[in-house]
Amino acid sequence: MSSIKNAAVLVTGANGGLGQEFVRQALARGAAKVYATARTPRAWDDERVVPLRLDVTDDASITAAVQAAGDVSILVNNAGIYTHGDTITGTSAARIREIFETNFFGAVQVNRAFAPVLAANGGGAFLDVHSVLSWLGVAGAYSAAKAAFWSATNSFRVELAAQGTQVVGLHLGYTDTPMISMVDDEKNDPADIVRAGFDGLEAGDHEVLADERAVAVKAALSGPLADLYGLPGVPPPAGA
Ligand SMILES: NC(=O)c1ccc[n+]([C@@H]2O[C@H](COP(=O)([O-])OP(=O)(O)OC[C@H]3O[C@@H](n4cnc5c(N)ncnc54)[C@H](OP(=O)(O)O)[C@@H]3O)[C@@H](O)[C@H]2O)c1
Repeated sequence: MSSIKNAAVLVTGANGGLGQEFVRQALARGAAKVYATARTPRAWDDERVVPLRLDVTDDASITAAVQAAGDVSILVNNAGIYTHGDTITGTSAARIREIFETNFFGAVQVNRAFAPVLAANGGGAFLDVHSVLSWLGVAGAYSAAKAAFWSATNSFRVELAAQGTQVVGLHLGYTDTPMISMVDDEKNDPADIVRAGFDGLEAGDHEVLADERAVAVKAALSGPLADLYGLPGVPPPAGA
């Protein structure tokens, strides 16, 4: 169980739709400091926010962030990229690698680099942002990378238990951010998703299913694949 009050929190991808909301809600829950990290950091209107450059695909940038943010005890691993219409057969090999560089290798490297920092600060917590598509392979390389990150999160949870680090996986469907501005479908309010994630983190949960799609897709994993993928003829559940 981790408390955000008085903690130093770091958010990756802090300029994005969910990222900005993670920063705001961490402040509202009484964080002492929030490192709002981004490839291009921006100014914030709260003196507790420390804008910090962090490109999760750049090892030197991760190392510099670890040195600059040695007091972090809660890290929200949120940065990600998505290509609408991505398929595992049709997307170029170069783009598949790019998606994995950010959504898998980058995310994993951030946790690996900050794990000793969290240990030194009492254990702390990682909140890893996944998707319903970690469990549903309808978005090509994005689904594959989110599945791989989900698996890595499970490994982090097991391996870091001994140092007292809580590792939370957050699963969500379509949410109203720039990432899926092209999608015309029902979308979650980012504020609801972030609230669910932080509530789960503060309650000591290992996993948060932040919307009905996440609940439905996880439940369907124990059923026949034909039902999960709507085969034949029934459209699968959607959501990035
Ligand atoms: N929105 C949804 O429907 C949905 C559903 C399920 C899961 N998710 C996940 O939620 C997370 C947040 O996404 P979002 O919806 O808030 O999308 P977003 O508004 O596009 O934000 C994504 C952020 O990630 C940052 N980013 C991308 N590559 C990066 C890199 N190499 N290093 C550091 N930052 C990088 C982007 O930074 P720049 O500003 O520099 O481009 C952007 O600020 C992602 O992991 C996404 O996969 C979203």
